[in-house]
Amino acid sequence: MFINFWYPAARADELADKPLTVRMLGLRFALFRDSAGRAHCLSNVCIHRGGALGEGKLHGDRIACPYHGWQFDGAGACVRIPQIGKDGKIPPRARLDSYPVQERYGLVFVFLGDLPEAERPPLMAIEEWGAAGWRATLQHFDWAIDYKRSVENNIDPGHNAFVHDTHISTDGHDGTHITGIELVETAWGVGMKRTSYALPLRDEKMRAVSGREGSGFIESATGHHGPNSVWTFIHPSPTMKIHQYLFETPVDAKHTRLYLVTMRNFMIEPEHDARMMERNAYVANQDGKVLHDLEPVVTPDSNLHETFITSDQAVARYRAFCKAWENKGWRIDRDRLAADGTAFAIPSPLRREIKGWVIDPVPLRPGDAASRAAAE
Ligand code: FES
Ligand SMILES: [Fe+2]
Repeated sequence: MFINFWYPAARADELADKPLTVRMLGLRFALFRDSAGRAHCLSNVCIHRGGALGEGKLHGDRIACPYHGWQFDGAGACVRIPQIGKDGKIPPRARLDSYPVQERYGLVFVFLGDLPEAERPPLMAIEEWGAAGWRATLQHFDWAIDYKRSVENNIDPGHNAFVHDTHISTDGHDGTHITGIELVETAWGVGMKRTSYALPLRDEKMRAVSGREGSGFIESATGHHGPNSVWTFIHPSPTMKIHQYLFETPVDAKHTRLYLVTMRNFMIEPEHDARMMERNAYVANQDGKVLHDLEPVVTPDSNLHETFITSDQAVARYRAFCKAWENKGWRIDRDRLAADGTAFAIPSPLRREIKGWVIDPVPLRPGDAASRAAAE
């Protein structure tokens, strides 16, 4: 698990007039909206004596701890301590980590890290969002898996012909032989384009729209962005486009919440949303079943404990990206995090400006000195 990336914390519509407790990267966070409707995310551990902020109440623009009622604003500053009265002095260390928030694509994204704005990896963009002729659906899945296993599965063309009956050839074509992978690299990930063999669409209406009753070759592309996001473009016909954006949040090292935004440029009337989501869930749950049974649960640190072939090359590049982010010192040390007895917080951007914080920063793997120096 990595700090310094954007993570989807909740659906925008589930964050209403009550605070929410959300678990991400093995820690808890308090989400709430202020009186103007702006979403905020704070570290959940109250700096007084450990109360759980997300279980507290809202007072206008502030959230109050459920234990002794200390109030915090959206920037994490403690602005009221009932026990010291109106004229009492609030201790200077009485502040919580507050994280940058962006509300996009029907989701509340939180930047869990301390990088200043100019250096932050960008959120994966959905280019078609809001464009005429496109329709979006949003759904989510909760799986007991390491999120990296899911990202790797999405950029692995070799599994389709075995895991998905929607992809298993029944007409003699050898859909299991993977050829013609063309890797494309960006600053934050690797992708690939492919022409692949496809069966007719399962859904009758979609099949009619595709104009293809038989099998055929279609264009598709997929890639990851950062450690936890994946884009997949499927074009069942030259004019019919399904563009999927998967934003994953590691709840902890072995549990993942996956938010799937699907953009489509056909059958864009809302009454077809259920049909699209049913198709997505059908395919996703086939992946989920296989991923749930993998060993070890957490992706191994060394590729020597698995056997890579050409069709795994995007997975190998993904792991190399993860290694580079680890070398920057962004990887959480999950063993030290899991050890009982200390409350931790993901360091927020303000920690780079102000010293003296009550809650210890989450333990990070050391990375390498050269990468850390380059990142400074
Ligand atoms: S623990 Fe939060 S106010 Fe006391
Ligand atoms: Fe799959």
